[in-house]
Amino acid sequence: MSRTFSIIKPDATRRNLTGAVNAVIEAAGLRIVAQKRVKLSTAQAEAFYGVHKERPFFGELVKQMTAEPVVVQVLEADDAVPKYRAVMGATNPEQADEGTIRKLFALSIGENSVHGSDSDENAAIEIAQFFTEEEIVG
Ligand code: CMP
Repeated sequence: MSRTFSIIKPDATRRNLTGAVNAVIEAAGLRIVAQKRVKLSTAQAEAFYGVHKERPFFGELVKQMTAEPVVVQVLEADDAVPKYRAVMGATNPEQADEGTIRKLFALSIGENSVHGSDSDENAAIEIAQFFTEEEIVG
């Protein structure tokens, strides 16, 4: 079993799609072992996406991620990181496969409904930004 970190983004929470996204996650065999709805501060969003701070879309990304609440989650499965990336689909929803979360729900590359960790190492870092071990119940 391994873990990945997920965010259901403001474009999805705004449209009341938390349950719909979770249904796709669970149908794919990922278990939601921790979850909370939070409003990110600008400092939290900037820290979370620090790796992108030189990218031209950084300002817009931080603005979008702090505009409405998000749902942060820990997902568990065998090979959770690649499994969730497959379930999410490509970053750009125009390139996402049928049946993926981004194909089903995303509005654009910026408002792409979900975030998922890109490696086990980053999953551990991202999980620790939002959850204590006691809050993760498998
Ligand atoms: P996410 O997986 O959360 O990681 C960084 C986010 O930046 C990405 O999803 C997109 O929502 C957002 N983003 C906006 N524009 C771009 C872009 N041109 N390339 C990659 N990511 C982008």
